[in-house]
Amino acid sequence: MIKVENVKKDFKKVVKDQGVKGSIKSLFNRKYEIVHAVDDISFNVDKGEILGFIGANGAGKSTTIKMLTGILTPTEGNVEINGKIPTKNRKEYVKEIGVVFGQRTQLWWDLPLVETFSVLKEIYNVDDDAFKKRMCFLNEVLELDAFIKSPVRTLSLGQRMRADLAASMIHSPKVLFLDEPTIGLDVAVKNNIRQAITQINEQEDTTIILTTHDLNDIETLCQRIVMIDKGKLIYDGTLANMKGQFGNFREVNMSLENSDEIDKLNFLDTFKLKKKDISINKTKEKVSISFNQDKLSIADMLEYLLKNTNIKDISVNDVNIEEIVCRMYGKEVSVND
Ligand SMILES: Nc1ncnc2c1ncn2[C@@H]1O[C@H](COP(=O)(O)OP(=O)(O)OP(=O)(O)O)[C@@H](O)[C@H]1O
Ligand SMILES: [Mg+2]
Repeated sequence: MIKVENVKKDFKKVVKDQGVKGSIKSLFNRKYEIVHAVDDISFNVDKGEILGFIGANGAGKSTTIKMLTGILTPTEGNVEINGKIPTKNRKEYVKEIGVVFGQRTQLWWDLPLVETFSVLKEIYNVDDDAFKKRMCFLNEVLELDAFIKSPVRTLSLGQRMRADLAASMIHSPKVLFLDEPTIGLDVAVKNNIRQAITQINEQEDTTIILTTHDLNDIETLCQRIVMIDKGKLIYDGTLANMKGQFGNFREVNMSLENSDEIDKLNFLDTFKLKKKDISINKTKEKVSISFNQDKLSIADMLEYLLKNTNIKDISVNDVNIEEIVCRMYGKEVSVND
């Protein structure tokens, strides 16, 4: 369905000397530097699959999505979706795909949402019957009714994201590209969006590429993940396999009477851990400990902390994707499981 073969994208970036003098100098004498935003990546996605496309900030995710949607042309390599090349036959191609860039809306700011949908209906040439059915379906899944008559600029972030998702799907695309569709949303709206994505995928067999920094998105939605770092592909496989390979980490965040209390604890000897199983970050106010819960249970960790430190506040969280990327990057990584 989706084929990405040895794709590269270079950007030319102006290098500026420091200070005002430097800025003026670089106006006359421009020096360039090449940024390898995407550096030789290959992967395939099957029809009906939801692929999690993850990596740290600046890893090259959005640049890849832009090449897949035909907004950018690869410097090298080939992209093919459903037998089409995104930058060629653009008119035909855009009918088959839907795109959401969570960081900025694609809706018309001053138009009421319902009119936006009518405009999109015309752009995509959706016939009346299909449009009616589609609006019913999207309304049900994304609960648009309450704000469908409001201008887009008055919508809350959660409403706006649901509207953006709906707009990307008016024409029943075969492939959906969702670049951070849950960014900045509260837990309830995140769940709502996740359910909508699941339903669309199940009912219409839509192929979905999803980028996110939220591990919960990945856990609830994706059978498979592709991870990139500094433009290079560093993992392609299941989430379960990745956890098995790199440890199943959790994070304890706490405030202590005095952060230095943590220094007198000895996790390695007490729990017979290896260095790679635990890492501690300490600031004046907070201590955060991430540890491999396959080696040390959360219950044992909490008991030990409660006994040996004066805790003012504590919470247990999933580690974020950046943390996993850091761990993977510090180790030998095998691509393809
Ligand atoms: N138009 C551009 N011109 C120059 N450099 C660019 C351009 N677009 C992206 N880059 C650079 O390419 C690299 C990858 O950026 P990209 O936006 O793809 O990252 P990302 O993985 O989506 O990050 P984030 O998680 O922060 O959204 C970054 O170093 C970025 O500064
Ligand atoms: Mg991005």
